[in-house]
Amino acid sequence: MKLLGTKTGINGMLTVPADKSISHRSIMFGAISQGKTTIHNFLRAEDCLSTVAVFKALGVTIQDDGKDIIVEGAGFQNLQAPEEVLDAGNSGTTMRLVLGILAGQSFTSKIAGDASLNRRPMERVMGPLRTMGGTLQGNAGSEFPPIEIRGSQLSAITYEMPIASAQVKSAILFAALQAKGTTTIIEKEKSRNHTEEMIKQFGGEILIEEKKISVSGGQQLVGQEVTVPGDISSAAFYLVAASLLPKSKLRLNHVGVNPTRTGILDVLTEMGGEIQQLAYDPQNQAADLLIESAALKAVEISGEIIPRLIDELPIVALAATQATGTTIISDAQELKVKETNRIDATAQELNKLGAKIETTEDGLIIHGPTPLHGGIVDSHGDHRIGMMLQIAALLTEETVELNNPEAINISYPNFFTDLSLLIKENV
Ligand code: S3P
Repeated sequence: MKLLGTKTGINGMLTVPADKSISHRSIMFGAISQGKTTIHNFLRAEDCLSTVAVFKALGVTIQDDGKDIIVEGAGFQNLQAPEEVLDAGNSGTTMRLVLGILAGQSFTSKIAGDASLNRRPMERVMGPLRTMGGTLQGNAGSEFPPIEIRGSQLSAITYEMPIASAQVKSAILFAALQAKGTTTIIEKEKSRNHTEEMIKQFGGEILIEEKKISVSGGQQLVGQEVTVPGDISSAAFYLVAASLLPKSKLRLNHVGVNPTRTGILDVLTEMGGEIQQLAYDPQNQAADLLIESAALKAVEISGEIIPRLIDELPIVALAATQATGTTIISDAQELKVKETNRIDATAQELNKLGAKIETTEDGLIIHGPTPLHGGIVDSHGDHRIGMMLQIAALLTEETVELNNPEAINISYPNFFTDLSLLIKENV
């Protein structure tokens, strides 16, 4: 498809789609809690709909009344053996977190994904779950899906995480809630903490001391009302677009600003970006973000900030192509095992448009500023690469064509419509 262009900038006000990580977890917590959970502003995008389908297949009643999603939970003990192979689609979050839930059940089940998900590593989750007593087996003895899970009685463990991953941490936490004893997880770096926050929100007890998290099994969680804030990972595309395009001024409403997710705000500010947070809503950890055009300069990005902006690194790389100086991103080897290898895909696709990006073992070196030109690019079936390339297309007056644009439906089905409205506000 031919991507959108603009001769001016992007302006106006927008409510970005709901947070994907919180939407997934709201269904899962609703399912394992006792009683009704009402979810306001649920993300109806392909990934989260995969989670809904998986829990329906596990016997949970989930209704969409057109406004809210209502989950009728009956606790861990009331999940039922699925009749068919569970389908996680493209969603790593669905598969990995559900493994933690299924490992402690009394029935046998199997979960698979699409071609991309069936190539993503699962030993990182299966390993600790086996140590807890779980019985999990990948396809033909490998670590890849489809994965068969035989329900087992789990026991608590102490687990020092070798990688910073909220998905791995969350899978262990869901298993820990079903295990005998108290499980302790020691994080390598602090990753997004939505699962910990929701254990508390649903009435559970969890002890958090810096990077050490302890939770006991056998707790009965209780259904809640959840309001999902906007997804900062979706907001990131507009934050970068408005920074780079002259004469832009944008207000993004009610975006989640949980500190484990705001690395993008820190990095853009350090690059010279003009971002303000207004109207903070403490209950939902959300704020309006006001952003205007700014001249950006290069930065070095590594260490503890990486998990706080892991999904935003492709769009940060685009920002860096327009910044003065050389930006170095390191410690980001996890990008290789996302929906696609995002280190390679980012460099390959942006270089087609005239960027000067080198790949390294654990990141990217981006030389800026480089003007971009037209070309034919590919999303690699990865929603975030697709959206990043659309923002790149705004920076040139030449035509950019995107192959496989439908990947964007994974997290943001209305992306092109929303963006075109912000472009139109100029005329
Ligand atoms: C997610 C965690 C991150 C992130 C993914 C969503 C989550 O993955 O990249 O998009 O909701 O827990 P990792 O845990 O693999 O880093």
